[in-house]
Formats: sequence, C-alpha cells, structure tokens
Amino acid sequence: MSVIILGATGNVGRHIVRALLELGGSLVTQIVACTRQPLSGPAMALKAAANFSRTRLCLAKVDMMTSDVDSLAAILSGHEVVVLVMAQGLSPEEMVGCQKEVAEALSRGMDKKEKQPSGNAPLLVKLSSYGIDGPLSQGPLGDAHRTGEDLFRSKNLPFVSLRPTSFFSNFEAYDWPSLRAGGRVIRSPLGPHARVNWVACQDIGRVSAAVIKEHLETLGNGRQASIPVFRKVDVVGPEGNTLSAPEMCRVVGKCLKKEGKGRGDVEREVRYEETPLPTTEAYRGLWTFLRAGGFDVADGPGSESGRLLGGKAMTGFRDYIEGLVEGMGEAETRGLPLN
Ligand SMILES: NC(=O)c1ccc[n+]([C@@H]2O[C@H](COP(=O)([O-])OP(=O)(O)OC[C@H]3O[C@@H](n4cnc5c(N)ncnc54)[C@H](OP(=O)(O)O)[C@@H]3O)[C@@H](O)[C@H]2O)c1
Repeated sequence: MSVIILGATGNVGRHIVRALLELGGSLVTQIVACTRQPLSGPAMALKAAANFSRTRLCLAKVDMMTSDVDSLAAILSGHEVVVLVMAQGLSPEEMVGCQKEVAEALSRGMDKKEKQPSGNAPLLVKLSSYGIDGPLSQGPLGDAHRTGEDLFRSKNLPFVSLRPTSFFSNFEAYDWPSLRAGGRVIRSPLGPHARVNWVACQDIGRVSAAVIKEHLETLGNGRQASIPVFRKVDVVGPEGNTLSAPEMCRVVGKCLKKEGKGRGDVEREVRYEETPLPTTEAYRGLWTFLRAGGFDVADGPGSESGRLLGGKAMTGFRDYIEGLVEGMGEAETRGLPLN
C-alpha cells in the first residue's frame, strides 16, 4: 500500500518517512515523498534512508504554492494515505489556500470514484497543532488550521488531525546555536511564568506512522476502514517536558555542566531573558496563546498517542538536551542525514 507525504523533508515529515520505513515493508510498499527540490540534501537523505528498506521510496516534485488543483489531484490519486505537513513559514492565508487545494484535489478524486484498490477513499493525516479548537485562541495560525479542518469535514473527507505541542526542533533552531557557541542566555517572548510542553519530532513521526499502520492493517484485513470521518490525536510530551522558561534554563544548564570551568561537574548558568511580543499578527497571536498557557499540558497514562505507540514513552526533554550536548541530537535538525 502507498503513502504520499506533502512536506516530507521537513522537521516532522522526515521522521514520518523514517518511522514508516521502520514498519518493515510488508504494509507500506511505497512512500512518495513530495519536495520542491528533489536534488536537495534533505531529499537525498530520505532516498539514502530507504536504501536498505523493502519499502520503495520515490521523490515527487511538488510546490504547494504554485501547483494547480488538477495536477495535485493527479499526484494524490492512487494512494491509501495522504499526509499533509504544511511548512512552518507559511502565512495563515497560504495555509488556508494550501488546505483548500488539498481538499479540492481529494474530493475530485472521490467524486470521480478514483478510489484506492481497497475501495476506500484515501485517509488524510494532517499535522495540526495542539488546542486549536480549545478555549484559548491560538491566533491566525491556529485559525488557519481550524478553517482547513472545517473544510475537510464539510467535504466528508476522512481525516486524522495530529495535534502536537512545541517541537524540540524549535529549541534546536532558535536557542541551541548560541548555547552551543558558549552562550548563557535563552531569549523568548514567553515570560517567566508560562509553561510549555515540548515534544520530539521523532515521536510525532512515530505516532503518525502508528495511525497509518492502524489504518492500513484494517484495509489489509479486507475490512472497510472503520475510521471516523474526523479523529484528533494530541501528541504531547511527558510531564517533565512541561517547563517554564527559567525551568528550561536550569535543565539546559545542568546538561551543559561538563563544560564548566571549575573542578569536574560545574553547571553552566543559563539565564532567561524576556523579549517583546513579535509585531506580526500571526506570531503575536501564537506567543499570546503560549503565554496564557495554551501548551501547558502533559502526556498522561492512557493517552491516545501512548496507546498508539504500544505504551512506549515519549522522549524526555532532558534526555534530548543531553543527546544534543553529546553531539548526537542533530537528527532533529533539518537537512542533516537521518542516521
Ligand atoms: N513548530 C512547532 O512547535 C509546531 C507546533 C505545533 C504544530 N506545528 C505545525 O507543524 C507544521 C510545520 O511542520 P514542520 O516544522 O515539519 O514543517 P517545515 O519543516 O517547516 O516544512 C516542511 C516542508 O515544507 C516545504 N516548504 C518549505 N517552505 C515552503 C514553501 N514556502 N512552500 C512550499 N513548501 C515549502 C519544505 O520542503 P522542500 O524544501 O523539500 O520543498 C519543508 O521541508 C505547521 O503546520 C505548524 O503549524 C508546529
């Protein structure tokens, strides 16, 4: 069975590919990884990761910003699962446009009865964000996710909304470079009191693959997929990953202790500095949501993602930082080889 991934080379997409490859090839026989640049380093790294797998990996050149509905419909047809990961840097308007196009392309396939060999419409697995329909507004970015999801529902497209909290890759992109260079300050508009839960992109990839596996197994058993038209799965790190900015500084400082100048294990003191809210409306909305505790949650026993992972725990923030300090955490950084 075939899975196509839009956004396959990104922070999360690349881990979805890897987790699908780890399933072993009898269920997922083909992965189509979409990218704007099939010859780029991240695209080649996906190809290399599939070298020793029984799953065939093909790269497809797709630019969500310029492709029209007809060509997208052609690319998305013939797969059992379509995964949609929209790039972090898209504006809310671009996110809505992108989801409209995917919704239109998929519903054209359904209208034409271009269904899968199994007789089912493809399952759309969409990377969304935690709490987008909760009591706190996430601002224009969260609204853009919700608008798209309302559209998928209105068109009766079967889909799963995966809703993670803050990615480890944010830390790696924004905070780690200066800390790695010897810095002692973490800056953000979060403020000293709000707490944010952190989740590994690798774990989001594992949960995505588990959702896909569950669906394909149902199809493989010759049953009509029993997925509801709409399902949401929160993907949240464990309790120890829910940290205020000063708590995060302490964890990071402890992990950097071996770099201290004193005898043996001296902690590097890392302090927090609050910065003003961003001026752009979208990011201002997001940080206001975070400051109000929008991601102040933790994975608990019996969570759906825990069940999907067969009880295997999500990665701890401290373990992740220790991995980074030991120089092993680069797998979270886009563009570096997967293994
Ligand atoms: N960061 C967080 O903490 C967080 C938390 C919750 C939810 N989310 C959601 O997660 C999603 C982002 O996931 P991600 O970080 O994995 O994505 P990403 O790495 O930013 O982007 C995924 C891929 O999209 C392609 N891309 C980049 N810019 C593009 C553009 N302008 N037009 C078309 N394609 C473009 C790139 O592939 P090529 O260059 O190969 O084409 C990129 O590898 C967003 O929807 C965000 O709302 C993020």
